[in-house]
Amino acid sequence: MELQTLKNILGPEGVITNKDIHGGYTTDWTGRYIGSTPAVLFPKDTAQVSQVLQWCFANSVAVIPQGGNTGMVGGATPLNGELILSLKKMTNIEETDGVSGQLVTQAGVTLGDVQQAAIKLGWKYGVDLSARDSASIGGTIATNAGGSQVLRYGNTRRQVLGLEAVTGTGEVVGDLRGLAKDNTGYHLPGLLCGSEGTLAVVTRARLRLVNAPEEEISILLGFESLQEALRVVEVVKKDLYDVQACEIFFRNGLSLVCDQFGLTPPWSTPSNVYLLVDAAGQSGLVDRISQSPLAGFLESSKYVAFGSDAVSRKRIWRYRELHTEAISATGVPHKLDVTIPHGRLADFYDNIEAVVRSIDNDAQLFLFGHAGDGNIHVNILGPEPEDLTVDKVVLEFVASIGGSISAEHGIGRAKASYLHFNRTDSEIELFRRVKVAFDPAGILNPGAIFNK
Ligand code: FAD
Ligand code: MLT
Ligand code: ZN
Repeated sequence: MELQTLKNILGPEGVITNKDIHGGYTTDWTGRYIGSTPAVLFPKDTAQVSQVLQWCFANSVAVIPQGGNTGMVGGATPLNGELILSLKKMTNIEETDGVSGQLVTQAGVTLGDVQQAAIKLGWKYGVDLSARDSASIGGTIATNAGGSQVLRYGNTRRQVLGLEAVTGTGEVVGDLRGLAKDNTGYHLPGLLCGSEGTLAVVTRARLRLVNAPEEEISILLGFESLQEALRVVEVVKKDLYDVQACEIFFRNGLSLVCDQFGLTPPWSTPSNVYLLVDAAGQSGLVDRISQSPLAGFLESSKYVAFGSDAVSRKRIWRYRELHTEAISATGVPHKLDVTIPHGRLADFYDNIEAVVRSIDNDAQLFLFGHAGDGNIHVNILGPEPEDLTVDKVVLEFVASIGGSISAEHGIGRAKASYLHFNRTDSEIELFRRVKVAFDPAGILNPGAIFNK
């Protein structure tokens, strides 16, 4: 491929080729997708992104937008030799407004840096996930990332007040005014959030911030049965107004985490099910919790641990957050991120093991996730990474009980073949027509969301 024009646009340091391209760009985080690319491009601003995409459009060259490459569905992997457009050098937080609680950032800034900037302003950014130090704001917008605090603040789409993006023809669209009310036609931020780099490259965003809590407490609870744990999830969601996270994991996952990372388990007798409840709010949090219906469970349970400062909270959160790394350190997992409708959760838990075993009796099944949202991460080790039978039957089962085959990670390449489990033919056709409107030459992330 003739790269000289791109070098002219981006400068010699803005294009890397050959030996400088490592797996951090071409292999996805899970290790399941391994691609290759002739070049990784590093624009520094929106104008450069626009010039690059004008050239790609004119020359029908496919390109994959990439942020931190922490995605879980192969959405940023160049399986067919596409160029990679990395936003990693677009790392300016351009404007902060401590009065309105908003900031404007370039797309390559990490989630962690946005969180820190919000704290410095006396506010908080309402999205959190454990890849915070690598995942980019552009990537979290493109995947409409969820994470642990959706229960309180909503997913990424809820935080985006305005955005700027470049379409597949190189045209710059969107605005960063951040108006509280603006019903002027279709809502571009809403459409581009979750579009996974298939419609446009997000270059800048105006984000809303939320009130910073004065106090935060993490509570880990252990249960013998799932039913007991699900009862507490209901109480937490309904009656604990300060709740900001309600996460679930199980005995085998915790045991793997402790083995992999040399952690001491929270108590000597393992529980079957664990809930991690995070509460945050104005001072007086402990009093409010002790007057809430959760107090009864806390008093009667033998298996409770509290974290009320940064160190003890982190210690508790590690049991949950290290699941992803512990599983990937053991093998290449089949990662299926699903939402189950509230009334069907017990049904799901009762049957999921049998569904997996119907394909591979020796498979290891790890379940964990965001219990407050009904969002379970189904991780399966055992079946060969390229054998997708187990993926299909699990996703079919989820769809059959009214769930979503992608709660927060997106469709990417991993789930493109199953989109029709949740979407009708007419909907998929409409999605394709929307894509053509933004990307008439089909150069933006081909193969993601849709099978070609
Ligand atoms: P990438 O992986 O680089 O890209 C992801 C997708 O977005 C691709 O389709 C890519 O083409 C597109 N894209 C990237 N940047 C842009 C852009 N500027 N414009 C247009 N398209 C773009 N996700 C959750 O939702 N919740 C979690 O709790 C969570 N926890 C995680 C924990 C770990 C340990 C890891 C490794 C991942 C986790 N993830 C989670 C998944 C991942 O972090 C998110 O999907 C994140 O939003 C990806 O951001 P990224 O910058 O790494 O994007
Ligand atoms: C999480 O909640 O930890 C993530 O979404 C990552 C994963 O599913 O492994
Ligand atoms: Zn998650």
